[in-house]
Amino acid sequence: MKTIAQISDLHFGRTDPEIVTALLDDLRAEQPHFIVVSGDLTQTAKPAEFEAAHLFLGKLPSPYLVIPGNHDVPPVNIVERFTRPFARYRRWIAQDLCPNHVEPGLAIAGVNTARRLRWKLNWALGSISKSQIARVEAFFRRFGDDVLKIVVTHHPFLPPPDTPQEDLAAHAAQAIPVFEACGVDLILSGHLHRAYTGDLGGQGRAIHRSILVAQASTATSTRVRGEPNAYNVIHYEGRRLGLGTRVWDGKTFVPHDTAWFEKSNGQWLPVTQAAKETPKV
Ligand SMILES: [Fe+2]
Ligand SMILES: [Fe+2]
Repeated sequence: MKTIAQISDLHFGRTDPEIVTALLDDLRAEQPHFIVVSGDLTQTAKPAEFEAAHLFLGKLPSPYLVIPGNHDVPPVNIVERFTRPFARYRRWIAQDLCPNHVEPGLAIAGVNTARRLRWKLNWALGSISKSQIARVEAFFRRFGDDVLKIVVTHHPFLPPPDTPQEDLAAHAAQAIPVFEACGVDLILSGHLHRAYTGDLGGQGRAIHRSILVAQASTATSTRVRGEPNAYNVIHYEGRRLGLGTRVWDGKTFVPHDTAWFEKSNGQWLPVTQAAKETPKV
């Protein structure tokens, strides 16, 4: 069984150094074969914060895919925000704002949902554009049903169960049916500093097929929202998938419950308690 780690909302500039060190130690011990970094690498997009994030990424024990978050766009230097919003990110982190990753059995599409400006006063909100939706669709059309297809965004596509009024990525409603049609299995996002999972399919929503969602807490920031620092772990093999978290307990990262799913006729169905014994991770 393979494991992907999703770390999100690192927020260098406002991290707990003990947790940063513990996170690297935990990733080295867990040995995920791939790591997804879903945005907000910095707190205020300062060069020193990007440099710290750059050094951190260089210590990751596995190959990784990284996308920006809203905090990675300079908030104070308005000229730079509007003319070169991702110049610092590109200098320190990665040139490609929407990277893809392909390996046998796995395809990942990274989508940059951070924006320099939105026609709402809250610039922290994100968006997915028509061209980004089309790019994701064209990318996943290349792969068959035997390939696990994951979209990574910073801004969420599913609100927390206890606060359904949270803002989602703008145009998520337009993206989701396209994701359904091109076979997306799972969306990994962050931004809210809340860890939860869900399914975009069913429950009266506009699509019929399952698209699983795993939202990540902040891995290393002191800016928590009522829950501890944590990161997500995604285990998969064939048609079986597990969504779990590793949670900071004040001393180390410890495993939390893993929800297991099995794919049948396009639906990711929760694995029953009896069948849960089968996976070996
Ligand atoms: Fe964040
Ligand atoms: Fe964010």
